[in-house]
Amino acid sequence: MLLHIEQVLDAAAIARMRAKLDGAEWIDGRETVGPQGALAKRNQQLADTSPLRAELGREVLAACARHPEFHAATLPVKILPPRFNRYANGGCYGAHIDGAVMALADGSQLRSDIACTVFLADPESYDGGELIVDDTYGEHEVKLPAGDAVVYPASSLHRVEPVTRGARVASFFWIQSLVRDEARRRTLLQLDTAIRQLTAGGADAPAVKQLTGVYHNLLRQWSET
Ligand code: NI
Repeated sequence: MLLHIEQVLDAAAIARMRAKLDGAEWIDGRETVGPQGALAKRNQQLADTSPLRAELGREVLAACARHPEFHAATLPVKILPPRFNRYANGGCYGAHIDGAVMALADGSQLRSDIACTVFLADPESYDGGELIVDDTYGEHEVKLPAGDAVVYPASSLHRVEPVTRGARVASFFWIQSLVRDEARRRTLLQLDTAIRQLTAGGADAPAVKQLTGVYHNLLRQWSET
């Protein structure tokens, strides 16, 4: 399931973050991948130890946590602190699948169920830079307004097309979901969405309560930490 989540960050937050990012020191993005990824990756990132990465990463995660659709779609149990990247001057990232297990600062590990990209540049400000995700339904091309996010299964083959004008700036991170199976996550999101629509439409309260109970009982059966 590839899902476009609108307005995770508002225009004021984007402007504030971009002012800091545009003056930041960027390093070669190949520092955070293995040898195979290094062959395909041509971009820049904030250093993992950069205080700006930590500061802006917290801001991105707080915005995601406030967004009801983000939470319902991902059901996060662990999130890798967001990184920030920049593609310019032909920068690109060839087709790859993300690593399955990642180390967290506290020594624990995260299983990357879901990948997330939050776009931080106006799509009119650069050419190219489309995120191409190849899932069971074929290839999807993603280039979103600044502040919007895409979440997709980290198991998908994906790439970033070369940026031929301007700069594509984004935040990206991985999520370990309470529900590991993608089809089950989709079912839960559909049920959650239907319940919210019924509630907003003033549907019969006992029936909505029963459906909400079904949602929680499925989540109880399917969740793992
Ligand atoms: Ni990737």
